Amino acid sequence: MSKKLYIETYGCQMNFSDSEVVASILKAEGYDLTPEIKEADLIFVNTCSIRDNAERRVRNRIQEFRHLKHLKPTLKIGILGCMAERLKENLFKEESFVDLVVGPDAYRDLPKMITDTADGRQLANTVLSLEETYADISPVRLDKNGISAFVSIMRGCDNYCAYCVVPFTRGHERSRNPFSILNEVSDLIAKGYKEVTLLGQNVNSFAWKDDQINMNFAQLLESVAALSPQLRVRFSTSHPKDISDELIETIANTPNICNSIHLPVQSGSTTTLQRMKRNYDREWYLNRIEKIKSTIPDCGLSTDMIAGYCGETEEEHQQSLSMMELVGYDFAFMFKYSERPDTLAARKYKDDVDESVKARRLDEIINLQQRLSHQSNLRDVGKVFSVLVDSVSKRSKTQMSGRTDHNKVMVFDGLDLQLGQYVKVKCVSCTAATLIGEVVEL
Ligand code: 5AD
Ligand code: SF4
Repeated sequence: MSKKLYIETYGCQMNFSDSEVVASILKAEGYDLTPEIKEADLIFVNTCSIRDNAERRVRNRIQEFRHLKHLKPTLKIGILGCMAERLKENLFKEESFVDLVVGPDAYRDLPKMITDTADGRQLANTVLSLEETYADISPVRLDKNGISAFVSIMRGCDNYCAYCVVPFTRGHERSRNPFSILNEVSDLIAKGYKEVTLLGQNVNSFAWKDDQINMNFAQLLESVAALSPQLRVRFSTSHPKDISDELIETIANTPNICNSIHLPVQSGSTTTLQRMKRNYDREWYLNRIEKIKSTIPDCGLSTDMIAGYCGETEEEHQQSLSMMELVGYDFAFMFKYSERPDTLAARKYKDDVDESVKARRLDEIINLQQRLSHQSNLRDVGKVFSVLVDSVSKRSKTQMSGRTDHNKVMVFDGLDLQLGQYVKVKCVSCTAATLIGEVVEL
């Protein structure tokens, strides 16, 4: 009988993509994935450290595994990902029932580590690498729909934004061989996938140079899009300091590169951005938005925003709100600042914005975004969009759901439609979160 692996993933898309690599490495060792935790011989939790509450959530969750080990003493439990990297062997002291602690660059070592824990040892490998990109590993897809997939194109980050733990947990930036990226996408197309999202902490600094090829991100994006006109290509995440005119023009000129850019601003205030070490200011960011808006008509725009960063004054917070109004984001991920050990901010600045002030500022940001999202959706009423059908609607079993090119969710009647089909849908009404449409053409 095959051995069973249960894997739970927290955090960003990058982590989901890594879980697919892990599943692939273990499949070669005879492990099949199971959705039933009680059946598992091996439980992996792929963790996130980006904010304190992400870590606390995982800590609470893994306590539930303790009794499973009493029921099945041969069960092995592994903590993977960013929390494993950050806390290393200390996790064994704090969570005595954990067998394996494995950082994001050490997944190839998993089979050997699992064998070596058979005698009851606890083992950690948190060595970071300057080269590892898992380029040759063909990920086992964990997505359910067989329509959209994530493809990792680079790993790590060299930006060292003052608040961010990622350079410490994921190591230095390195790009993946473009041939292996194109091969992976071709394979997805052959399997019927219709959408890929190219992933990296800062995709704009993708760079590859060897004897045969010299490629930047805009060129990679174009090459991926050229594989099939039926394939939608998205990417995440971009750093505003690196988003070039060439990239913006490539998006504008290539029909199947989606007109949607996630461009995390983090704060609208130049002085806060300086303390965050973001390497751009308010004017630079607005100039990039201007370039996007004038080059790519109706481009979807989304952002990340942090409320209550070290030393943030009321005036600086107001600048964040005014930035949101000026750009008119369609969507945003919004967070309260959470101090992370060892980062520059933790060493250099005081986490001095009162918790109640942080909460109030975050509320103001969320309320404003709710209004902006609604306004943006209202502007789409009456327009016709090409929608890739990707699921049955969550709310109503008689409706289908899909995304527009500019990355908005649209729901519409159409039980006879196939998943993975493109349809033309007219937007007839909306909420702040969803466009509601009618199919006008198959
Ligand atoms: N506190 C709050 N939010 C953070 N992010 C990163 N680090 C922190 C932190 N210490 C947010 C940023 C980033 C997103 C992935 O998470 O907005 O873009
Ligand atoms: Fe992803 Fe960052 Fe969280 Fe690591 S810390 S899982 S890189 S969001």
